[in-house]
Amino acid sequence: MTTLLERIRTREATVVVVGAGYVGLPLAVEVAKAGFQVIAYDKSVDKVQSLGRGVSYINDVSSETLAPLVSSGALRASGDPEVLGTADVVIICVPTPLNKTKDPDNSFIMDAAEMLAPRMKRPQLVVLESTTFPGFTREVLLPRFVQAGRKTDEDFFLAFSPERVDPGNPKFFTHNTPKVLGGISPKSLEVAQAMYGHFIETIVPVSSTDSAEMVKLLENTFRAVNIGLVNEVAIMCGRLGLDTWEVIQAAASKPFGFMPFYPGPGLGGHCIPIDPLYLSWKLKTLKYHARFITLADEINSAMPEFVEVMVADALNARRKSVRGSRILICGVAYKRDIDDVRESPALDIIQLLQRRGAEVAYSDLYAPSIRIGELQLRHTPIEEAGKFDCVVITTDHRNVDYAALVERAQLVVDTRNATRALRAQYPDKIVSL
Ligand SMILES: NC(=O)c1ccc[n+]([C@@H]2O[C@H](COP(=O)([O-])OP(=O)(O)OC[C@H]3O[C@@H](n4cnc5c(N)ncnc54)[C@H](O)[C@@H]3O)[C@@H](O)[C@H]2O)c1
Repeated sequence: MTTLLERIRTREATVVVVGAGYVGLPLAVEVAKAGFQVIAYDKSVDKVQSLGRGVSYINDVSSETLAPLVSSGALRASGDPEVLGTADVVIICVPTPLNKTKDPDNSFIMDAAEMLAPRMKRPQLVVLESTTFPGFTREVLLPRFVQAGRKTDEDFFLAFSPERVDPGNPKFFTHNTPKVLGGISPKSLEVAQAMYGHFIETIVPVSSTDSAEMVKLLENTFRAVNIGLVNEVAIMCGRLGLDTWEVIQAAASKPFGFMPFYPGPGLGGHCIPIDPLYLSWKLKTLKYHARFITLADEINSAMPEFVEVMVADALNARRKSVRGSRILICGVAYKRDIDDVRESPALDIIQLLQRRGAEVAYSDLYAPSIRIGELQLRHTPIEEAGKFDCVVITTDHRNVDYAALVERAQLVVDTRNATRALRAQYPDKIVSL
């Protein structure tokens, strides 16, 4: 432990970040900036090649930041698993999606663990950052390393630290977002804290890896449940003939006891639609049914269909059917000002409208092309909005001139309140969630 701690303290430790995606790449950059030798290990040949050239493929990391770290040798990329055996510290940031039955798919973590276990350098610190269910690090990951003949607190130290990155956030980045950290043992926590203290301003230690895993799931379940609530409030306001956004804004004037959440076309991204189901799955194994999670998932997952009906009703009011109409989806990223389309509800809405017989195109400067199953679509310039029977605003990117869009469009269905200021001017053109 002393040697490892010493190597961490003096920044001589070599760090391998497994998975250089939305979470891993910003982290690798931060660690390299703190003065460590970092290797970004990724299975994707394209990503390794791009990093080798100093070219970033993640919005939050500019090539201007990346290139000097690569050319100075502080950060290099590799697809060779042998680098895992050279690391003093290994940080795992691989995906944790759901499988077809909406159960946790931990196969990416296990693949990484299979690569690491036989190669572990002694001593080595391993930190898992991928979101997973409470108990995973202790019940699944730890035994895999022990099975490989390694001793906890001697040969390796193990910790879990949930990632909180908020892509596109202009204020909070990896280094200034407080980071929760739980160790498999007090020594593991101590070593991990020493490492993270070099590049994270505030560390929030908790008593176990289970607790750290649960923290992440509480945070994201909190969001999923509150978004589910407000989506249902939007549906109720629609029935009551009330303006949802006015109601929320007025409620938010209460200086205590209320936190505004906003409705939308559904959940997207690699966190909010997925993570709560990791928790409910774990609880199912303990014979407990997590009711809030199930209900929020039900409401949030049904929002694309709700939008589909809004579009059908809006066209119907103009004596048009969905079949044969030309519809432009404005924004396919799952949230404003980012390029991530994973789990984006816009993709579901495109499919739903196509199934009803509409001719659907999309406009999103952040996503020049998208693939939905077999279907490949390309961005349509927003200036062509007038050629469509209906424009559906699914993401409120700031690079769109909404006044010009509404002026050109024949009909606008706005699921994001992007056209609020224009509603009085175009009462017959805008339909809003
Ligand atoms: N994206 C977010 O906003 C966000 C926020 C907080 C937490 N998380 C969590 O962080 C984890 C990673 O998410 P992400 O968005 O960075 O995913 P990502 O898909 O952007 O990146 C993961 C990377 O891991 C690589 N990879 C997969 N298996 C590998 C393996 N066995 N060995 C080496 N590389 C491998 C992939 O090629 C990919 O580049 C997930 O658990 C996610 O829930 C994501």
